[in-house]
Amino acid sequence: MPEEYVQVEHLVKRYGDVVAVDDLSFSVHPGEIFGFLGPNGAGKSTTINVLVGLTKWNSGQIRVAGHDLAHEAKAVKAQIGLVPQEIALYRNLPAKRNVEYFASLYGLHGKALKEAVAEALAFVGLSEQADRRVSKLSGGMQRRLNIACGIAHHPKLIVMDEPTVGVDPQSREHILAGVKTLRERGATVIYTSHYMPEVQEICDRIAIVDHGKLIGCGSERELLALVTDQKRIRVEFAPAGEEASAELVKRVQLLPDIRTAALDREQPSLLNIDAQVDLADYSSILSVFIELGLPIKQITSEAPDLETTFLALTGRELRS
Ligand SMILES: Nc1ncnc2c1ncn2[C@@H]1O[C@H](COP(=O)(O)OP(=O)(O)O)[C@@H](O)[C@H]1O
Ligand SMILES: [Mg+2]
Repeated sequence: MPEEYVQVEHLVKRYGDVVAVDDLSFSVHPGEIFGFLGPNGAGKSTTINVLVGLTKWNSGQIRVAGHDLAHEAKAVKAQIGLVPQEIALYRNLPAKRNVEYFASLYGLHGKALKEAVAEALAFVGLSEQADRRVSKLSGGMQRRLNIACGIAHHPKLIVMDEPTVGVDPQSREHILAGVKTLRERGATVIYTSHYMPEVQEICDRIAIVDHGKLIGCGSERELLALVTDQKRIRVEFAPAGEEASAELVKRVQLLPDIRTAALDREQPSLLNIDAQVDLADYSSILSVFIELGLPIKQITSEAPDLETTFLALTGRELRS
């Protein structure tokens, strides 16, 4: 297996004057859940649809499992299971016939097909609904069936485009747990979402996209580091004399991993500290208070989170 399972380089896709994907480059490691995060209209589905061979692109290079999509589309498609954003099911057919249909497109038949269908339905928790018509299934069940159709043939790369949109919290948890299980079974997953918490919960690495461009890519920690390497700590202490407070500030400032320390302008018994994110615990800070005999009333800390990172990188909040 190549080092990078998916490699996208300088991908450009235009619809008329709209540049849906604008010079996008990223790679996906084998065996990881790779999050593709961005607001509506960011270009996620377009990228995904190009990647799975559904949409032509204008320029750029795409390789999947070492195969060049431009020249070996068939070999690429054979690796992939797509869970599309729009539910793609035959409403008048029973659940299991839908899964059968999609799995048979990948060459499964006979006993292997039956087993794969049963396994996929069990995987998404729909074994009991196997014979029920799609039109009789709830929205959340249809979403899960949509997933079963994309994974029944045991693809090595599973591409999911907003698979939890419009589902109830229980189905969402079921789906997220399922995605992690797929990774445990050795699949590589590209997981598209505009919903930060779920990407944070399941993804090993995340690409943030906006207006068709890559804004940042990496682990949660790496993304946070793009915006800030600081955290703000506030220590509220029992009111003390000016001299003791000045001594406190001086000593805290000298501690390792501390950038600045200053008394709050409005509340002199509050110490505001900007520390390096690396500061592992507060014991060094606490010991200064103890040495000076200043009782601590409360400590709070604000570490940057992905939501604020997204805002800082894109200038806007994720819409949901
Ligand atoms: N078939 C299409 N024809 C014209 N414009 C499209 C088409 N598909 C997507 N777009 C446009 O491309 C941009 C990216 O859309 P899309 O990839 O669907 O974003 P996302 O999946 O992140 O919400 C949007 O401006 C959208 O309107
Ligand atoms: Mg989309």
